Amino acid sequence: MRLYLATSNLHKIEELAAMLAAAGLDVEVHTAEAVGGMPEVVEDQNTFSGNALKKARALAALLPEDGLALADDSGICIEAFNGAPGVYSARYAGENATDEENLEKLIRELGNVPNGKRGGSFECHLAVVAPHGEERLFIGEIFGTILRERRGESGFGYDPVFLPLGKERTTAEMTSEEKAAISHRGNAMRQFLEWMRDTKIQGGA
Ligand code: IMP
Repeated sequence: MRLYLATSNLHKIEELAAMLAAAGLDVEVHTAEAVGGMPEVVEDQNTFSGNALKKARALAALLPEDGLALADDSGICIEAFNGAPGVYSARYAGENATDEENLEKLIRELGNVPNGKRGGSFECHLAVVAPHGEERLFIGEIFGTILRERRGESGFGYDPVFLPLGKERTTAEMTSEEKAAISHRGNAMRQFLEWMRDTKIQGGA
């Protein structure tokens, strides 16, 4: 069968594709480009799951019969801000904000928040629309502390200031394998892979 990634975010594509390749499933992995590109989706739901499902359904409508759509909606939730920016993480600094502008704003807004109150988490909700219309959600989370200054060049988005609990390096100072082993996306992905293997949906043994 064929699996299509319902995102045009190159960082997400890189992380998801690497995890799928490492899992050795009997599936062909494609980006939405293979079916003409990711259709425009207004992310107007107030939950990660709601937006992820919207994206997966929009792509599933364009897929061949054996095509499975996999969408990722994710973001950072800051305890001192009661969970914000959450679903608005990609547009925290404005509608077309860059990752750098969003990060800059987070560092600024957390400026006066003391050590000990700088907790936060990344969440990743993966939505699947399988052939014949079955829908599934897989949710991953990782908790950490938000640093005052950037550290590291890997990853994307808020990674340079995210120090996972119990770790000494930010997710931007980790290799992609190290990040995947503990990250919100890695955790959600492992659940998805287990489901794929259990349902034998990938056509393997
Ligand atoms: P989405 O495309 O609406 O799901 O937006 C996700 C946003 O959350 C991204 O633009 C990033 O700013 C942030 N984000 C999600 N996952 C990660 C991650 O693994 N590291 C850093 N930032 C992330």
